[in-house]
Amino acid sequence: MSTLHSNLLVTGGAGFIGANFVRAHLAHDPTARVVILDALTYAGNLGNLEGIDAERCTFVRGDIRDTPLVCDLLRQHQLRALVHFAAESHVDRSILGPDLFIETNIVGTHSLLKATRLVWLEEEAGAHRFHHVSTDEVYGSLELRDAAFTESSPVRPNSPYAASKAASDHLVRAYHETFGLDAVITNCSNNYGPYQLPEKLVPLLIVNCLLGERLPVYGDGLHVRDWLHVQDHCNAILLALRKGVAGETYNIGGENERTSLEILRLVVSAIDHAFERDASLATKYPQCPAAAGRSCAELVAFVRDRPGADRRYALDITKARRELGYCPHAIAGPKFEAAFRDTVRWYMANDSWWKSVMDGHYREWVALNYNNR
Ligand code: NAD
Ligand code: TYD
Repeated sequence: MSTLHSNLLVTGGAGFIGANFVRAHLAHDPTARVVILDALTYAGNLGNLEGIDAERCTFVRGDIRDTPLVCDLLRQHQLRALVHFAAESHVDRSILGPDLFIETNIVGTHSLLKATRLVWLEEEAGAHRFHHVSTDEVYGSLELRDAAFTESSPVRPNSPYAASKAASDHLVRAYHETFGLDAVITNCSNNYGPYQLPEKLVPLLIVNCLLGERLPVYGDGLHVRDWLHVQDHCNAILLALRKGVAGETYNIGGENERTSLEILRLVVSAIDHAFERDASLATKYPQCPAAAGRSCAELVAFVRDRPGADRRYALDITKARRELGYCPHAIAGPKFEAAFRDTVRWYMANDSWWKSVMDGHYREWVALNYNNR
């Protein structure tokens, strides 16, 4: 890999996908170095970076809206490529309080665009790359019979989160078209895997089963998402860094459409079976129904849906397959279920991680979200 794509500024690198990406990038390229810029909001945790070689990874606590700081980091570390993960990322939070989403996702992305324009185009022109990480939610919602979203599907965001990400995508595109910034956007589907904060569906269900707390199913539980293992997503970004064409957008999905209830059944069955096989789990998690020989299914609670909830997301990944050589490994069927069970096992084995990130503030918010339904 060339130095251009080896040495990266990674915004939001202490969050779920950012931390997985930093690990993947450093493992994939032995010469790589990374500077992480992360504000350590409720969603960012230094624990997500544990074990990463500090010689190759510099952590800077700071805000992407601080344009002079971003310029300084680019100059000081001679960075010519950036992968932008930093965002407010939770739809429920955007419904309860949209302002921060506008600030971080739109104003923050614009701050990065201004900094990179200044340093990479005006001060020292030359090769560079701005990689913007976005979501399938910008396309809005599909009916069951509809074809999956392609890169040319209309942008029709429904939640404040999705609208703020769509706005950031437009800004990135505009900086490419207007100023010639070398920028690529990837729009990915719902990620799952290690280090995801237990306020998103998959880790929330796992942790609540283990703690014997309710499993909130929004609405009828039949909303469909395309579940993508975080490792597949990180590989796709590494491919896009090398092969993506400036100004292009690539959809990154897992080709694993599942309803929330199907995901819930996978979690419950993985945990019930694990307790049957390993008696020590009952001692470790005494509140879990499986510790008393009962199924975690008894914890299911149907609750009021999100206002404006999207029914289905699905991505057509033909372009990424053809142009980037992308192929999700945790692809449909038994492979997906095996990758999913591995994720459940990771949370069962790493309770010290999730207990440390579920602080008082986090618990207050989860209670507020639940009581609001
Ligand atoms: P996350 O919420 O786990 O992490 C976000 C990170 O950004 C945190 O470390 C936080 O501290 C940091 N951050 C927030 N505001 C900041 C600011 N102003 N300055 C600097 N750092 C700030 O998010 P994630 O799930 O890892 O998602 C990463 C990116 O991927 C986001 O842009 C999100 O929109 C996108 N995405 C996520 C998913 C998913 O399933 N998680 C799906 C599609 C797209
Ligand atoms: P989520 O993980 O928040 O991702 P997104 O809304 O960005 O797709 O939610 C995934 C799906 O799971 C969505 O249809 C809402 C549903 N959901 C629940 O049923 N219960 C929950 O507690 C959460 C957090 C989500």
